[in-house]
Order: sequence, then structure tokens, then C-alpha cells
Amino acid sequence: MSSPPPDPAAAFKQQAAIAAAALVRDGMAVGLGTGSTAKFVVAELGRRVREEGLRIRAIPTSVVTEKQAREEGIALTTFGEQPELDIAIDGADEIEPRTLNLIKGLGGALLWEKIVAAAARQFVVVADASKYVDHLGARCPLPVEVIPFGWENTARKLGELGARVTPRRLRDGSFFLTDEKNLILDCVFGPMTQPEDTAKAITDIVGVVEHGLFLHMATQTITAGPEGIKILTPEAGPAATATAQTAAMSTPPHAPQPAARGIAPRLIVIMGVCGSGKSTVAEGLHNELGWPWQDADVLHSPQNRAKMAAGVPLVDQDRQDWLNQCHAWLEHCAAQGNGGILACSALKRAYRDKLRRNGLNPLFIYLHADVQVLNTRLEARGGHFMPASLLPSQLETLEPPAPDEDAWSFSTLYQPAETIAQILSKLRDPASRPQD
Ligand code: A5P
Repeated sequence: MSSPPPDPAAAFKQQAAIAAAALVRDGMAVGLGTGSTAKFVVAELGRRVREEGLRIRAIPTSVVTEKQAREEGIALTTFGEQPELDIAIDGADEIEPRTLNLIKGLGGALLWEKIVAAAARQFVVVADASKYVDHLGARCPLPVEVIPFGWENTARKLGELGARVTPRRLRDGSFFLTDEKNLILDCVFGPMTQPEDTAKAITDIVGVVEHGLFLHMATQTITAGPEGIKILTPEAGPAATATAQTAAMSTPPHAPQPAARGIAPRLIVIMGVCGSGKSTVAEGLHNELGWPWQDADVLHSPQNRAKMAAGVPLVDQDRQDWLNQCHAWLEHCAAQGNGGILACSALKRAYRDKLRRNGLNPLFIYLHADVQVLNTRLEARGGHFMPASLLPSQLETLEPPAPDEDAWSFSTLYQPAETIAQILSKLRDPASRPQD
């Protein structure tokens, strides 16, 4: 039997997959997609589980992905145990960049994929850049999963909607069966200008189980191509794209909690050495304030991550491109006007100056704790590429903010909730204590 030809887009798929897998953090419940791009995501998460001690529980979207996840050593869970997922990462066959609407299901797993995507707070789509289309249906048929009984009539009804309908078959001529033992009818509609109407009309046909239109579900797409990585969010749209691993790669904004209402959106950088609790505090502030947040560790290149994972401290030169990515993220947030919280070590004055370029004036919130506390936290922490052995070099590099910098400092000896409350209260009334 001849092996399939090599996939020319494989390197781009892998780049997008690695960037998306970096969004997964310790303790998350994760939906694992299906297809050649999602396969790279599962492989990267497996690597992080083994090498970084990342602890996740996952729900796969197909029997094939389940097998791969088990082989990778990823712990699996069920919707019985885990009704809601923190994130689902999956591929797509077509992406409409204006809306982030998708066609999925050329791999035949659309039903489980849609159930998993619908249960996820963040649904991140990964693909190579060839998947963009102006209108869904421009290049791909729309896969529709139907029950085998009476499929001929179901196909006729789909045809009455204007589609050319072909039941999917295997090479030997037998029907392709989904993991639920249903059939797939591939429906060529051509470019759809009103996919919502098409979706509704298809769902109304008796015998249809689900269709491959994923409308208003993706919270972010990460694609890679010759021009680099491009990240889109529905609210940002194509105008706000970045051609590097930057911009909208963050948790989308949401309405503030009552305690945080009235605090005007601004840019904040939560800074400090590893173990100071930057991402916990940044995420906590995001939950309260509703402003987007970003873990700057995600913006490191694979080379930087590998270096740190091997216990080798980064030097100034390694950090330049990363600081550019961090700055681009802040600029993106400034343009959106919803505020932005970046958890970023920003150890040196020169690094912070780089983040202030082009008139950005983020407030730096410096979290500090004594070495013993930091060490204890780092020893206890799993799922991160940075080993505790890097702490001394970070402390050596650290230049705490000088009095002329726009910065506040907080001790992190308290529980994160207390630190977050202190920061909120000072954001509301900058003249107030506590601050140390
Ligand atoms: C599986 O049913 C599909 O929805 C895939 O997610 C989709 O076909 C993308 O696959 P590739 O990543 O292989 O292009």
C-alpha cells in the first residue's frame, strides 16, 4: 500500500497548533479536536504533560483522537464529570475571517466536535492559512450527519434546499460511518451569504443529526502561513490582526463584576519573577474587571521555551522578540479600548521601557515575595516549562520599578484573592493604601 503524499501545510498546521496549545494552563478541562491540525495540538499537549508536568483532563472529539490522547498520556474525562470545558481546540475546513464562522466535518467528526465546542468557554480554532474563504461553502461541501434509516429521503430534502448531495463513501464503495454509526451527506451549496438560514433549514429536516456549520462559536482562530501566525477574535475582526504570535491571543473581554464597575479600562502589566503569582492575579483581575488578559509566557518562541525548560536562563537578546510581541498585544488592547492585563515578568527597566514605546503608558504592578516563598511555590507548581532552578537568575536580573516609573508594588504573601482586592481598591482610588 502506498503511503499518502506529505502534507505541504504540515509545518504551518503545527505552528498554529503549538501556539494554541500554549493557551492551555494547569488544571484546565480541555476539548481535543480531530483532524490533521488537531493532531499536532494533542501531540504538543502530550509533550507538555510529560515534560512540563501539565495537569489537564480532556474530552476527545472522536475515537481516533481518544486513541492518540491515551497514547500521549493525556488524562481523559467525561461530560458526566466535567459538564463545562475551559477550552476546546480544533481544526476547521473553512474559516470566514469576518465572522469566524466555520465549516467543519470533512474528517467526519462534526457531531462530537460540535458538542465539545458548545461546552467550552473558549473555542480556539487552529488551521493553516489556506482555510480562509470569503463565504462559507466557497470551496468545501457542507458535511451533514444523518441517521442511516431513510437517508435517501433526507438527501432529497437537502437537495430541495439547493444543494448537490453525495453520500460519503469509503474507497471500497461502502458508506463512511461516523463514530455514532451515522452517514455523512456532503452537500455542495456554493458560497453561502446567509449561513444562519441554511443552518436552520437543514436542522428542520427530519433525519438530520447535525451539520458542519459552526456559527458564532469560535472565540479565536489561530492560523499559520508564509506570513506568520495570525490570530483573530470575533470582536476584533480582520482589521485587528497581527502577523506574529501576538495581538488578540487573550481571553476576550466580558462585563465587569459589581465590585469592579466604574473602574475605567486601562493597560496594566503584572510584573515580577517566576512564582510571584502574576498569571493568577492577572486572571483574577480579568474575572473581576472583564478586561482581556494575556499570559506573556504564551508569547515566547518555542526556542525560548525550550531553553527555559532546559534550565538555561534567557538573555537580553532572547527577550527582544518576545517583548515586541508583548508590546504588540498591549497596542492591540489600546486600539480596542477595553483595557488589557498582561502578566509579564518585565524584569528590567529597559524591558519596561520597551513596553512603553509608541506612547503606551501601562501601569506596572510589581508583585514581590521573599525567596523562600517563591521557591516553595515553584516547587509545588506543575504544568509550567520554567523550572524552579531559574529563580536565582531571575532575581539577579530583576530591577524593581524606580520611583519615576508608573508602578505600584504589592506583597504577594497574602492569598491571591486578597492581593486582587487590594489592587482593585487602589485602581478605584489611586491615592488609597495598601501598597508597599
Ligand atoms: C473533522 O471532522 C474536521 O472537522 C476537522 O477538524 C477539519 O476537517 C480540519 O481538518 P484538518 O486539520 O485535517 O484540515
